[in-house]
Amino acid sequence: MVGKVYVPPVKIQGIKTKLVSLISEEVDISDDTVWYEPFMGSGVVGLNLAPQRAVFADINPYVINLYQQIKLGNIDSYMVRGYLEREGKLLEKKDDRYYYEVRDRFNEYHNPLDFLFLNRSCFNGMIRFNKEYRFNVPYCHKPARFSKSYITKIVNQVKHLEEILKVNSWEFKCQSFEETISEAGENDFIYCDPPYIGRHVDYYDSWNEEQEIRLKDALFASKAKFMLSTWDENKYRKNEYIESVWGMCYKVNQEHFYFIGASEKNRNAMKEALLTNYDPDKSRNARSEEAEQISLESLIRQG
Ligand SMILES: C[S@@+](CC[C@H](N)C(=O)[O-])C[C@H]1O[C@@H](n2cnc3c(N)ncnc32)[C@H](O)[C@@H]1O
Repeated sequence: MVGKVYVPPVKIQGIKTKLVSLISEEVDISDDTVWYEPFMGSGVVGLNLAPQRAVFADINPYVINLYQQIKLGNIDSYMVRGYLEREGKLLEKKDDRYYYEVRDRFNEYHNPLDFLFLNRSCFNGMIRFNKEYRFNVPYCHKPARFSKSYITKIVNQVKHLEEILKVNSWEFKCQSFEETISEAGENDFIYCDPPYIGRHVDYYDSWNEEQEIRLKDALFASKAKFMLSTWDENKYRKNEYIESVWGMCYKVNQEHFYFIGASEKNRNAMKEALLTNYDPDKSRNARSEEAEQISLESLIRQG
């Protein structure tokens, strides 16, 4: 069970901040499990579970590069503060002209700090690319976006990330989900959060039935335990793929508000589902019995 949820420096549509607690209760990991997250996005789930060993992967090279540069110490919280103070002032002065100047610059040179700037000042904290893989999210139209407190918030998020990266052995890889899943061994755990199938969201890379089936095949070919996040139903529709593709899995639900777009009318209550290839109740009971046994043994040892 995680306590206070740590929010990472990167925002993304479909971010699982609100589901971290539920996920942490249902995963089946121990101290020597390697955590595999093939659809890392912001990485909020793994970052909060903080396993000692982990492989975070995504096909988005820019998010991977940002985390990798923080891990290597090439980017740190001091640098982020200096950069955002300087660039924030220019945004305040030149407004949208400056946002689009940074966007063009990023699309040419791919500086990870520019990626952070765009991610935190674009419309709704989205990440989306066009067919040429150029970042194409418009501006949020807030020239004073990088206020002192907003910069401090981002700097603290980077600082926290730096601290976790110092004590854990984590890898960041830009690769497809198939490659990541194929690396996991029998004692490892794979948490998958792909773009949601059948949701008409304006996403950078659309996700279709063929990919959903390829994901299912890759997961079932693996010997590792896995958990998949997907949507279950909303007021209008059910996710039919839960039966047709994932029928062999166990399912846990939670309802929460899913925010897509800027207006209230798009705020739909949606039931989320966690699908697993193991029985989460059995795993939870086995873990609590083991914990009881350990504390009993330590009481006996203390006399
Ligand atoms: C819903 S987001 C993950 C959100 C993440 N769990 C979080 O809470 O921040 C889905 C991610 O899958 C990645 N993705 C899409 N297609 C992929 C593929 N074929 N292989 C690996 N990653 C992919 C996207 O780049 C995106 O970051």
